[in-house]
Order: sequence, then C-alpha cells, then structure tokens
Amino acid sequence: MYAIPDEWRWFPEARFGMFIHWGPYSRIGRGEQPLFREHLDQRAYAAMACDWCPTRFDAAAWARVAKRAGMRYAILTSRHHDGFCLWNSQCTDYTSASQAAGRDFVREYVDAFRAEGLRVGLYYSLADWRIPAYWEGPAHDPAGWERFCSYVHAQVRELVTNYGRLDVLWFDGAWPHSAEDWRAAELVAMIRELQPGILINNRLGRSAEGATSADGGAGPGAATEWGDFGTPEHHIIAEPGRLWESCQVSTWRLWGHARGERWRPADVLLDMLVEAASKGGNLLLNVGPTPEGELPAAFVARAEALGRWLAVHGEAIYGAEAGDVCEFITYGYQTVKGNALYLIVRFWDGQGVLRLAGLDTRVERAVLLTTGQELAFEQGVDELAISGLPIEPPTELLPVIKLECAGRPQPRPWAKDRLWQGDPRRMTSWAAARGTSVWADGRERA
Ligand code: GLC
Repeated sequence: MYAIPDEWRWFPEARFGMFIHWGPYSRIGRGEQPLFREHLDQRAYAAMACDWCPTRFDAAAWARVAKRAGMRYAILTSRHHDGFCLWNSQCTDYTSASQAAGRDFVREYVDAFRAEGLRVGLYYSLADWRIPAYWEGPAHDPAGWERFCSYVHAQVRELVTNYGRLDVLWFDGAWPHSAEDWRAAELVAMIRELQPGILINNRLGRSAEGATSADGGAGPGAATEWGDFGTPEHHIIAEPGRLWESCQVSTWRLWGHARGERWRPADVLLDMLVEAASKGGNLLLNVGPTPEGELPAAFVARAEALGRWLAVHGEAIYGAEAGDVCEFITYGYQTVKGNALYLIVRFWDGQGVLRLAGLDTRVERAVLLTTGQELAFEQGVDELAISGLPIEPPTELLPVIKLECAGRPQPRPWAKDRLWQGDPRRMTSWAAARGTSVWADGRERA
C-alpha cells in the first residue's frame, strides 16, 4: 500500500462516482464530439450552442439519482472540447450563463450535489476546438498559444475560486500538447493554493522533462505526468502505487447523449464496479443527460438497481481493498476489508456448496450478506467448504458471501501466486500426489 494523504481518503472509501457529460452537443444526439468527428461547420455549431436552452434541468433531481445509486461523488463537464462553458465565465460569453439558457449550470450542480452530501468535481477540457492557436500549438503560433493558455489558466482559476470547495479537478484534452506547453506546473500550483486537498487527475499532458506531481509524486524523472490519480478509460486496470479510477460509459460507446445508443444491463455495470473495487480502484460511471437536461430513464433504472444492491452489499465495496487473496476466478471477485474477505459471486452454480481453495487464515464466521443467512463451513488445511447455500441465486445481481477471519485474510504459501507467477515447482508435490495408477506421462508402462 502507498501512503494516502488524509484529505484524499474519501476517494478510495467512495469507490463509485457519477460522470456527467452534458453540453450543447447533447442536442445533436451523437455523443460529445460531433463537432470534430463530423467536421461540422463551426459557425452553425456555435449558433446551435448559444441557442441551447434546457428547460428540464434540475440539478437536485440528478443529485438524488446519484445518491440513490450509492454513488459518493460526481464529475460534471464544465467545458468539453467544443469550448462551450457551463458556468458564468468572465473570460468569454460562450457560456450557458451568457447565452439563451441564462443559467450557471456549474453553480446549480455544485450546490445540489453538495446538499445531497456528495463530493463534487469538475471535468475541464484543456482543448478548445474553436481556437486556431490550439491547433497551431506553441511552436507555430507562440503569441496565439500564450493568449489561449492564459485563457485556460484564468478559467481554471474561476472554477477553483467561485464554487466553494471542490474535491476533484478532472482534466482532459491535453493532447497533442505537453505538460510544459500547458504550463501544468504553474496550473497545479495555483489549484493547490486555492483548493488545498483537491485531487487532480493525470491528464495534464505528458511531460517532456519527466516532471512529476509537486507533492506525492515519486520524484523528478520517475513519472512523466502530473496528477494524483490514474484514469484508465474503458478499461479496469490497476495502477500500482497510486489512486486510480476507471471511467466507463453506461452505454456501448459514447459519453455525451446519443440517440439510438444501447445501454449496458445493470449486472454489467455492477460487474464493472465490483471488478474495479476488487482491483483496488474506483468506478466513474458515465451518463449523458438529454438536451432538455434530464437523466435518461434507462440510466436511472440501472443506477437505482445498483443502489439497491449497494444498500445491502455496500460494505464489500466502500473502502474495500483489492482482494486477490485466493484463486476465485471460477466464481467471481474478492475484496478485503480488515479481517473480512468478501466473495462476490458472478456465477452462482446452484450446488449448495462453495469450495474456496488456498485461504490460510482461520474463518470464524460465514454469512450470505445478500440475505443475512448464517452459513455452515468446514475448513481444512487447503480448502474451505461453505455449505447450505440456496440453490436459486439469492439476487438477480451478484450475491456476496462474507467471511469473517481471525486475522487479515492471507493465502496459503502455494496459493500466493497465480499460475503464471512465482516458482512453478511449488506445485510439483501436488501433481505427484495423483499417484501412478493412470499411465499418461510418457514413462514406460509398468
Ligand atoms: C475521451 C473522449 C472524451 C471524453 C473522455 C472521458 O478522452 O475523447 O470525449 O470526455 O474520454 O474520459
């Protein structure tokens, strides 16, 4: 384990957040990037954006859904790559406050989510596709770049100054420019001064000089990016040595509202949350609200299903640590908290008995968390047999068995490593134990 500063502890405790991609692009209904991907006319897009007037946006309703889903924080796109701002920026009038909507959506969001007791973060795209200097870059348009980069810094300063305490700043869109081009060191210093304790993600551009985070980093030259946590996207990959959060769509592909998108079923979304927790990370689950400002019903239904599951099984997720204690892939995932080992079952085989091999620590109690049923078990040296399990799966989602152990759950020496790790000779005596009754290993027949 790496040391987590106290002010960041809420993050791994939270495990589950809501990512919200909302902007004028939602009117087009083909994700968050039609401007670039469809090479749309800039003027027509800007006119469409300025005319955007969502009448059904109710930040409190969004916050209630997040809360009911068991999410503990949220990240809203304050500005995406199209450059349209969802707050009352004084640096431009290309904002929801200055145009048709006449509202500071960031303010409404921050206030409503805070009121529900949720942690609050903002996504901010460094890229702005309307600005020629963004495309030219500092090498080809130094003066234009300087103006543009100062605009970015001034906007970030507004966000970290005018909306009270922020818990996360979630940058994006640094590509193709470097951290030096964006003056990331200066940006980070300014943010930390105004918002001590904030978490900054790792998307401030690659650093040509190999610089690393001013505090908490591994030292100059050790890392090539700024930021406090990793953001694997569309993947759930542990990032050793730091906090991380996998961001995932709840649909098939797009982040912004898309007509005709398909929705992943609730068990798939839950599976992602559990997989992230089982690997020691968070899940930031995205929704693209409608152009009118509502969360799609398909999303709300799934979010609420996850919330109902978390209300019963949340102790296996919130603040839980990675749980790859024993080989358990044939059933599902594991997480660990203190002396408890949680077995989160993906494949309920209806056999009434579940056999867990390789747990060294003595088990004191086994409970089917899903129903509260106490479970009988027998523990030998190498195996734990849990019995009396219902034949029918006790939930349509993922049942959880909690094992209360005499100490922190540890594997048997032979079970410490997976097949492809460690010394393979640890298994020789196990293989030899089959005896010689079957003639199958190339020796002479006796
Ligand atoms: C990618 C997409 C961007 C989206 C982001 C979310 O960077 O290009 O549109 O906002 O992922 O992580």
